[in-house]
Amino acid sequence: MISKLDSRTAFAIWLAPLLALFLLLSIFNAACAPKTPVTEPPVTKPPITQPPTEQPSAPPTLPSQPTQWSADGVITDKEYTKTKSFGDYEIYWTGDDQYIYIGMRAKTSGWLAVGIQPGTKMKDADMVMGLVSDGKVSIFDFFCVGDYGPHSPDIELGGTNDILEFGGQENEGYTIIEFKRSLNTSDKYDLPITKGTNKIIWSYSLDEQSTKKHVSRGYGEIDL
Ligand code: HEM
Repeated sequence: MISKLDSRTAFAIWLAPLLALFLLLSIFNAACAPKTPVTEPPVTKPPITQPPTEQPSAPPTLPSQPTQWSADGVITDKEYTKTKSFGDYEIYWTGDDQYIYIGMRAKTSGWLAVGIQPGTKMKDADMVMGLVSDGKVSIFDFFCVGDYGPHSPDIELGGTNDILEFGGQENEGYTIIEFKRSLNTSDKYDLPITKGTNKIIWSYSLDEQSTKKHVSRGYGEIDL
């Protein structure tokens, strides 16, 4: 019995340093084990804010010329800023500091016209008449000398032809004439077109001859 206890004691005495050594090694190992790197949360820097740049508060500058005007006898919605309808006669226009661009459209294969007329009837009206005949476009810079005519080309009265560009088309019973003119010409047979309201007369004929009377005519205003 004693010898059996002794052998157990001896075993325990022998085992104890081993256990102690194992324990020490474990502690040492734990202490020296590579540590998971401590990652710092990414530093989020506040965005660098520039003081707001001063935006121009002025309204956008509109082009001084209509961007897509062309005297091709086709009226598109980019060409003119204003329009008025007088039954089967329509007028479209836009202006800048120097020029006026006009489009006329009427239910006719004859001539169509517009006149600057601050007064009444036809006398002293500054008229522009256009027509398309066999695909050829003609335009006339007229001045009317009497209440109901006659109107004569400015050049025959000693003035000048001041239509700078023009064009037209006849299509499906309608004729379109487009033209460009200076707001102020140096011709005394042209009336100035002013900023604000300009009184006009308009008319169209079913005939292609510029001396044949209109079938429809009237008064109106165009404003720039
Ligand atoms: C072939 C050329 C023309 C002839 C022979 C002619 C003839 C006449 C005649 C006889 C009248 C009075 C009868 C009526 O009221 O219908 C008249 C009126 C009128 N015409 Fe013409 N015209 C001609 C061109 C024009 C043109 C090109 C315009 C416009 C751009 C025009 C605008 C007017 C207007 C507004 C009236 C009404 C005047 C009023 O208040 O009494 N005419 N025209």
